[in-house]
Amino acid sequence: MDNTVITTRALTKTFGSFTAVDKISMEVRRGEIYGFLGPNGSGKSTTIRMLCGILEPTSGSGAVLGYDLVREAEKIKRKIGYMSQKFSLYDDLTVYENLDFYAGLYSIPQRERKKRIGEMIEMALLRGRENELAANLSGGWKQRLALGCAIISRPAVLFLDEPTSGVSPTSRRAFFRIIQQLANENTTVMVTTHFMDEAERCYRIAFISEGRLIADDTPENLKNNVIKGVLAEVIHPDALYIIDNLEKLPYVLECSNHGPALHVLLESAGAVQALNNYTGVEAKIIRPSLEDVFVSLAKKNRRQVS
Ligand SMILES: Nc1ncnc2c1ncn2[C@@H]1O[C@H](COP(=O)(O)OP(=O)(O)OP(=O)(O)O)[C@@H](O)[C@H]1O
Ligand SMILES: [Mg+2]
Repeated sequence: MDNTVITTRALTKTFGSFTAVDKISMEVRRGEIYGFLGPNGSGKSTTIRMLCGILEPTSGSGAVLGYDLVREAEKIKRKIGYMSQKFSLYDDLTVYENLDFYAGLYSIPQRERKKRIGEMIEMALLRGRENELAANLSGGWKQRLALGCAIISRPAVLFLDEPTSGVSPTSRRAFFRIIQQLANENTTVMVTTHFMDEAERCYRIAFISEGRLIADDTPENLKNNVIKGVLAEVIHPDALYIIDNLEKLPYVLECSNHGPALHVLLESAGAVQALNNYTGVEAKIIRPSLEDVFVSLAKKNRRQVS
């Protein structure tokens, strides 16, 4: 059986003369958690909306579960789960009533509903809160309830657009554990996030910048292959002031700040001594993190465009 669940070929969306999504080609396999990362405005939500059959592509093609994005958009909408960046619950309905409402939307038969709603309440860790109004739930609970509403129909594919923005680290972890459980049960999950710890948990990551897909690989391969050179960490009291000067040094390829530290990409290990002499502190060679990979990819892409 073909295991490809989402596929696109040169998928493109323009708004007037502006290209929001630029010839994206990708494949997502069954049971994968596919992370979709990129700076604000890079086209993540627009791509997801096309994949959900909500927004018609300008050109290119794609299919979800074998259904064509344009010709079979209605079928796609019925088969998938989608939690949008600005998901909405009914504030004046209780937890139970919200789930029941979505069960109705997806035409889940009456005799099955109670059981399904119960399953969602278990999954979303909402036991004991069934009769609370959605309005009164805190952020993390709301997000898990919205997830319950999105998957009450047991979709084979789930699209999550920044599901964990604005909630606490504990809630984010609880949420991602549920996602991992769903993937273990063979649900295909495409998720956008700005959090590196979540990106680390994805099976594959696609990185999109200015509408273009500029990397698509496992977190491990991205960390091993994207950054060419030797990465050094420099902890310096005037980190933010020296960053511009460091970037001008002939042996420095890139420089970015990470909290109190600077990450300096050097041409080769031989340049460490020169760097130490310049800064007056001892640099430490480090392994690139996913964040380093993304900073580097975004910079590279901007250079190619300009
Ligand atoms: N309906 C629209 N009309 C015009 N421009 C649009 C429309 N929808 C999106 N855009 C533009 O397309 C670009 C990509 O937007 P999109 O929402 O896909 O980005 P994103 O990667 O999801 O960003 P974020 O991380 O902020 O959510 C942005 O410049 C946005 O302003
Ligand atoms: Mg978005």
